[in-house]
Amino acid sequence: MPALTPPVTADALTLAHRIPPGFVMGTATAAAQIEGMRTSAGRSVWDDFAAQPGHVLDGSDTSVTCDHVHRYADDVALMSELGIDAYRFSFAWPRLQPGGTGALDPSGVDFYDRMLDELAAHGIAAFATLYHWDTPSELGGWLDRDTALRFGDFASLVGERFADRVSHWITLNEPATVTLNGYALGIHAPGEALLFDALPTVHHQLLGHGLAVQALRAASVPGRIGITNSHTPVQPATESAEDAVMAQLFDMVHNRVFAEPVLLGRYPDAPAELEAMFGAFGNTDAADLATIHQPLDFYGLNYYMPSRIAAGPGSGDSPDGSAEAMSDLPFHLVDIDEYPRTGFGWPIAPEHLGTALGELRDRYGTALPPVYITENGASFADDVAADGTVHDPERVAFIAQHLNAALDAVSPGGVAEGVDLRGYFVWSLLDNWEWAAGFTQRFGLVHVDFDTLERTPKSSFRWLREVLAARKA
Ligand code: FCB
Repeated sequence: MPALTPPVTADALTLAHRIPPGFVMGTATAAAQIEGMRTSAGRSVWDDFAAQPGHVLDGSDTSVTCDHVHRYADDVALMSELGIDAYRFSFAWPRLQPGGTGALDPSGVDFYDRMLDELAAHGIAAFATLYHWDTPSELGGWLDRDTALRFGDFASLVGERFADRVSHWITLNEPATVTLNGYALGIHAPGEALLFDALPTVHHQLLGHGLAVQALRAASVPGRIGITNSHTPVQPATESAEDAVMAQLFDMVHNRVFAEPVLLGRYPDAPAELEAMFGAFGNTDAADLATIHQPLDFYGLNYYMPSRIAAGPGSGDSPDGSAEAMSDLPFHLVDIDEYPRTGFGWPIAPEHLGTALGELRDRYGTALPPVYITENGASFADDVAADGTVHDPERVAFIAQHLNAALDAVSPGGVAEGVDLRGYFVWSLLDNWEWAAGFTQRFGLVHVDFDTLERTPKSSFRWLREVLAARKA
């Protein structure tokens, strides 16, 4: 192996040596955030949402982003230099199937063909997400049950077309974020602020998941099949009974209503105080639940932070607008002051990644398949220095702490001992278009200049390359 400069630090070496053989290390991205949707034959709700003033913090949109659609070969070369085992990306539904119905579009197919061939040529496994929030504009969205059926059809076509080069299929990415931010609070596309009336979008997305799993199985794809949910361990702000109930409510709507039907075939029972709010699940069809409850080969966990909840409506501001949108709810998020924060203001609490893994084990037991951490990462204000380098020691610390916490948690005696943890994906390979925050939050291992589109690997990229290269075989 060529000498690495700077030399591998003792901490990097220790981390490298704890990564078990066969444990998948990767990076994650999503189509709307990197590809540049101006070249797509179809539009998504995010293209429409971003076009309306006031929705995206810096007024930016999906049209160019990182221009990955033209620069994918350079980006795969960066992945290869980094030394990752796997790349998680998403197929853009409107690029592959404009309008969300009918045959696949040849130009969309051509792009993913070339990108997947490039990954294969570099020996990088493809983890493909079928839905990372870019619903075709022409469909009725997730309040409409028909969108689930259309998604099942899409999965069937994509499964048949790309079966040979996808090692892992992820049906949905974070349906909780779509329901909560997109339909309950209105701070993400499609911008509906329906509060509890958003709950039908839970069921329709999960039905879409079940139909997609069935479609992929029917297409006999050789790849493994799973889903990605985001989990946030929830704490009540005080010991009061009111805070405890509202913390349970938040845990239900953020974590449990998305995991339980998929893994156990039922919606969680609401605490008696909350039953009225959960009417949407009262008469759920047994046949739908059977469709949702498909055997899965793996479960994808996205972890960013814990949440602290207090009873009563909130006040004040937050950079993503969520505090204002939440002012009509019976609970609010409370700042978690004891931790340092990311650029987004999110608390950096690595041990709660262990808590999240432990909750999965405790709640789902033998129904929990092997787990991949399909996203974990942080935004910081990473500037290019005068000498052209980008130094991001906070990201190095963030990734090291979280990966160590996950490995600790599943070790003998750890809080999640027994969870079959198979891999870890950093969000994200590139600085990218962070949804309603536009280009204001940089999550990448690689800096992107959004004027010139120049890529500059940050010091976290070089550090992770050292860790990956120093792993035991
Ligand atoms: C997750 C999303 C991903 C990215 C990160 C920061 O919720 O899945 O697209 O925006 O947050």
